[in-house]
Amino acid sequence: MDPSRTITQTHERRSGPGKGQPYLFLTLRCDHPLEGGARFSFQGADQVNIGRGGALQIERQQGETSSIRISVPDGRMSSRHARLQRVLGAWMIEDAGSKNGTFVDGKRVTTSPLADGALVELGHSFFVFREALPRAEPALLEQRALKPPARGMATLSPAFALELERVATFARSQVPVLVSGETGTGKELIASAIHQLSGRPGPFVAVNCGAIAPNLVESELFGYRKGAFSGALEDRPGLVRSSEHGTLLLDEIGDLPLAAQAALLRVLQESEVLPVGGTRPVKVDLRVVAATHRDLGALAGQDRFRRDLLARLDGARIMLPALRERREDFGLILSALMEKTGEMARDLIFSADAARALLLHSWPLNVRELEKCLASAVLLARDGRVELEHLRETVFGVPKPVAPPQGVAPEGLREADRRLREQLIELLRANGGNVTAAARMMGKARTQVQRWLRRFEIDPASFIR
Ligand SMILES: Nc1ncnc2c1ncn2[C@@H]1O[C@H](COP(=O)(O)OP(=O)(O)OP(=O)(O)O)[C@@H](O)[C@H]1O
Ligand SMILES: [Mg+2]
Repeated sequence: MDPSRTITQTHERRSGPGKGQPYLFLTLRCDHPLEGGARFSFQGADQVNIGRGGALQIERQQGETSSIRISVPDGRMSSRHARLQRVLGAWMIEDAGSKNGTFVDGKRVTTSPLADGALVELGHSFFVFREALPRAEPALLEQRALKPPARGMATLSPAFALELERVATFARSQVPVLVSGETGTGKELIASAIHQLSGRPGPFVAVNCGAIAPNLVESELFGYRKGAFSGALEDRPGLVRSSEHGTLLLDEIGDLPLAAQAALLRVLQESEVLPVGGTRPVKVDLRVVAATHRDLGALAGQDRFRRDLLARLDGARIMLPALRERREDFGLILSALMEKTGEMARDLIFSADAARALLLHSWPLNVRELEKCLASAVLLARDGRVELEHLRETVFGVPKPVAPPQGVAPEGLREADRRLREQLIELLRANGGNVTAAARMMGKARTQVQRWLRRFEIDPASFIR
């Protein structure tokens, strides 16, 4: 799918068409990727002139109240490089006679309409244009997302910043939080940020509900008493009690078997746990964050997820956008990953071809995929400059999603499931039908992937080359 369409649709879903104001995001400077991006607000201007300057800045131009100038310290930009203009309500970009040209979505242009989400390339600087986002604070220029409250909570998007602020407020209460999003969008990271912000003194305990064998779910979660079954040689507290005074992340909550859902509901209602083989429940001070890539409402509609449990878990909600839907944050996320990956990654720079490829890729496995891509680029880019060929294995190694080989997707699949199905097909194709390899690339247990294959009626054998 064209990434710019995705952005438009997402935006319209979130804030309604036609509302808000235009922004330009400087998402990546090839030679300074650690800077992590900046946001320019147009504030009513009908014309925006962009060119090289001594420092990153935005200023209103004297005498022309509706005109602003953005200066970028980029030696590959001309001092008058490009102009954005609102013409009859639509935004256009025009090259202002620059030496190195103006590019929109990877194509050189002289003048071109600017669609919402367009990628604009001037010199070694990459911008994302957003036509109508919610109005943020009055500042014209914001950089580095203003000190995020915790790792994983940095964003330049005004709409997403509001959602994260709301979550940060809920974090300090005991209200359960439900985190949803595609694979690799940072659900676990947000859950641990919520724990960090909660100030709760106990540990952060993450449980993958899809990875526990169904017959062991209750003993793993709620613990057991010595002698409860043949292997129970001593009392075990279980994962719920291990998170006492801390935060329990119930990851992939949609995969929790129905019997365990009933037991979990009791735990949440009563704040007490009955260990397997126990006769008396044990009180527990519990804070729960649940995460899922599935549509729990739809599962509840099919009686595969308890509505009462969903109501309990659904205190506050946050939906993490896919990486392709938040291209304005790409540089911010890339810089966070560079800091995390280590010293060699911190010194990397990118060629314009490599940066363009990264920004136009659709990232089906989201931030986790970018993280892996960066890790291999560090090894391949020996002189510290990432070239297009260093990305071939990762960004271009996996073919783009194509029509599934065994007929169309089953009727009535939700959007998230349809995407997951496409992702599975794509990975199986790339791995010649090897389920273990596909599972590894998704960071998932093989058994989980096999369950999905059955559910989506995908035959891995049909991908064997
Ligand atoms: N906003 C972000 N900034 C920096 N790193 C991030 C961000 N979001 C995710 N990551 C990193 O990407 C990787 C995947 O994140 P995480 O495990 O939280 O995703 P997830 O949504 O739980 O994935 P899954 O659905 O597969 O379990 C982690 O290494 C995490 O640190
Ligand atoms: Mg996870």
